[in-house]
Amino acid sequence: MSKKFYITTPIYYPSVKLTIGNSYTTILCDAIARFHRMLGYDVFFLTGTDEHGQKISKVAKERGKTEIEHLNEIVDDTKKLWASLNISYDKFIRTTDELHVSAVKKIFNKLYEKGEIYKTHYTGKYCVPCESFWSEGQLIDGKCPDCGREVIDSNEECYNFKLSKYTDKIRDLYKNNPEFLQPQNRVNEMLNNFLNEGLKDLCVSRKSVKWGIPVDFDSDHTIYVWIDALTNYISALGYSSDDDSDFKKFWPADVHVVGKEIVRFHSIIWPAILMALDLPLPKTIFGHGWLLFNNDKLSKSKESGSKEVIDPRILIENYGSDSIRNFLIGEVNFGSDGPYTQESFLLSYNNNLANTVGNVASRTLGMAEKYSDGIIYEAEKLSELDQKFKNDVISLKQKSIEEIKNLKPTNSYNHALEILQKCNLYIDETKPWELYKEGKTSEINTFLNLLCQAQLEAYTLLIAFLPEKVPQVFEKFGVEIPKIIDENNSFNILKAGTKVNKGENLFNRLDIAKENEKLINIAKSI
Ligand code: ME8
Ligand code: MG
Repeated sequence: MSKKFYITTPIYYPSVKLTIGNSYTTILCDAIARFHRMLGYDVFFLTGTDEHGQKISKVAKERGKTEIEHLNEIVDDTKKLWASLNISYDKFIRTTDELHVSAVKKIFNKLYEKGEIYKTHYTGKYCVPCESFWSEGQLIDGKCPDCGREVIDSNEECYNFKLSKYTDKIRDLYKNNPEFLQPQNRVNEMLNNFLNEGLKDLCVSRKSVKWGIPVDFDSDHTIYVWIDALTNYISALGYSSDDDSDFKKFWPADVHVVGKEIVRFHSIIWPAILMALDLPLPKTIFGHGWLLFNNDKLSKSKESGSKEVIDPRILIENYGSDSIRNFLIGEVNFGSDGPYTQESFLLSYNNNLANTVGNVASRTLGMAEKYSDGIIYEAEKLSELDQKFKNDVISLKQKSIEEIKNLKPTNSYNHALEILQKCNLYIDETKPWELYKEGKTSEINTFLNLLCQAQLEAYTLLIAFLPEKVPQVFEKFGVEIPKIIDENNSFNILKAGTKVNKGENLFNRLDIAKENEKLINIAKSI
């Protein structure tokens, strides 16, 4: 295999409270990764946890645990959640992993030796939750401009990275490589907020923070968590270790997918560090938007007495993991913010999963059993309507594939669903019940064949998006679960003469009012 695809999520801050908001990046990356595997790419999909910094020690202490005890518990929970959301990562990196720690130390040494890092004194503000340095002038109403929380005074000896000298290089990077930072509006945000006024050198060590990776040549200092964290994208591939074969094979990354609040670290600091190390740059940084709860990225459910369930585990228990994937992929346009409400979640379940994904197969297989004893025969002569249907399906399939390659998973998913909607329309227009009454066997055979083949194309595209339930549909059609999406041939997944069987519906319609009330009661009880 020659085509490779390296995709990463950010490494997560270990959080005791997981919400569907912080599952967003991982689910979207998983869909993109799975789709690329099915297009024949050799995929490396990386995720993990960001385990150093002041915040971790504080929370561990509050929970009466050592840092590593605290972290191990959360990492376990995180991995369990990813498993129940069907996340198909190839590697889970922890920044407490020995190989990572050693790579970070080596990189810091190298930057120091190259004169990219120098010793100085930092006086300014620091936001602990964001692990970000700010000058007085950058604060908004005295608070962190990123998250709006209180900042603290920071005044200590530190090492600085010469970020200022990269201002023009980063501008040129954006100008010469429009694919580097996406979507396009993120470029303007970076130019207006940081690059136009010129970058300032960046403090990259902390004397007051003990829970971190020590600077090799000055053990009073630990390495700034963002330098530590960003390095995961190459340390995970074995960069600077005895076995760097993955690094050689997969670097540079095809895409780092990140939330918009951390685009700055990925599209300014990270490329500057890579330039300083003479390493190739990632091809794309994609800054997605936020899932909003009452207009907020963070859920304030406790404070406002919200009636919304946002714990993914509860939603999985009640509606399966595809329900969350369907909402996050299909209803929040990748790159933009989108609101979450329980009701829109339930409505989308009915529209996309029950009425479309589940119903079309049931309807089709029911007709096959009734009109043809469940046997699907060869298609014969295509009418104009048949031909148009077939062309429309092929064109939607191509669009779905194109859009995933363009990093537009929302569009890609919706095009695959449109194929199933087209199937419903084709049934209504063909009126097979009339053909059946008139004894038009050849027309019925053609109709059933095209209808099944079209759906199998759609379901093949949908495996990446809904990996829990969709693979179960193929058995009903008497075919194996496809491992590959055939970009050049269509309408040939099912072999003529195959017997199909209707079986159970994949997704059943929900009573929205009833479910909404059930969730409200759950939300009240937690
Ligand atoms: O930032 N909607 O980790 P993190 C969409 N450790 N995405 C959301 C979200 C929401 N409501 N809430 C969180 C960090 N996310 C650093 C990264 S990488 C070298 C270091 C997303 O746990 C968020 O945008 O705060 C980010 O992409 C991911 O969850 C992890 O965020
Ligand atoms: Mg964050």
